[in-house]
Amino acid sequence: MKNTELFLTAVNQEIEHIEYPVSPKELYDPIAYILALGGKRIRPLLTLMGANIFSEYPLESMPAAMAVEVFHNFTLLHDDVMDKADIRRGKPTVHKKWNENAAILSGDAMLILAYQFLAKVDPLKLPQLLPLFSKTAVEVCEGQQFDMEFESRMDVTVDEYMEMIRLKTAVLLGCALKLGALHGGADLKDADLLYEYGESIGLAFQLKDDLLDVYGDVAKFGKNIGGDIVSNKKTFLLINALQKADGELKRDLDAWIAKQTFDREEKITAVRKIYDQLHLKELSEERMKYYYDKAIHSLDQMSVGADKTKDLRELAFQLMFRES
Ligand code: IPE
Ligand code: IPE
Ligand code: MG
Ligand code: MG
Ligand code: MG
Repeated sequence: MKNTELFLTAVNQEIEHIEYPVSPKELYDPIAYILALGGKRIRPLLTLMGANIFSEYPLESMPAAMAVEVFHNFTLLHDDVMDKADIRRGKPTVHKKWNENAAILSGDAMLILAYQFLAKVDPLKLPQLLPLFSKTAVEVCEGQQFDMEFESRMDVTVDEYMEMIRLKTAVLLGCALKLGALHGGADLKDADLLYEYGESIGLAFQLKDDLLDVYGDVAKFGKNIGGDIVSNKKTFLLINALQKADGELKRDLDAWIAKQTFDREEKITAVRKIYDQLHLKELSEERMKYYYDKAIHSLDQMSVGADKTKDLRELAFQLMFRES
């Protein structure tokens, strides 16, 4: 079996083996539910792949991998409330299946659970891993706050957007890798290069997520298409549309953004059409390619041979073309 498949199986087993207290059910059921729904498990894979470069026993970094995945799933519970999203991983979101209070409190408990996992790492390594994890966790909240504030702002720049997605998404991928690398015995220089690689693929990852939110297939993506358009999320697409559209196109776009009541599908179709006319999908894919190249460049600078980072090179490539 390939390393990545082996790691994925190990992560899924670890998640299946989590034992939850029997009560209160309303607190623990949503946690078990969201974690069992799967998802790509990119972040714990990155931790184990990071460890695998430096250690013969990468699975010893499983507690750190679990901490990252549980933290990520906590952010999804709260994000879906904030984004009013109904579907996640092809199933009803926690706040739809239960209620918003459940999503908030089960999410809170998951944040604590994430730290409980992290506390299980090699005690000699914990002092190095803990500050990185906490710094990252706060940064994700910062990014999430900017994301929400930007919904009602019309002057968001591409640079502000890139910084927002760096915080809400990219730093966690960087952190996942660096945790694994440090736990596996990497020196700081290599660990930082892996962090940089993770941050770059993270930026490409969120650009792709924003593209899939407009052009994806709900059956594969597992989330409703068009949510970002409906809520005027300042994505790379919308920011560029606001900058590049003129004349009637700009008046149309401004009108759709200003509308308080509208037919959801009608707005999504209209705004998507504007993006198409401005060729913004292609522009976004060019940006993704830029960060992909940057990611590979970080790997090239590492002290280890290119064969050691083969899986990460492949993963970066696959993520560019993902549909889920
Ligand atoms: C969703 O992350 C949130 C973003 C940062 C875009 P993923 O796309 O990794 O979601 P799962 O875990 O695979 O469901
Ligand atoms: C990622 O942004 C937010 C998190 C850090 C959880 P999105 O809001 O675009 O993520 P999805 O599309 O709902 O997964
Ligand atoms: Mg969001
Ligand atoms: Mg969301
Ligand atoms: Mg999204």
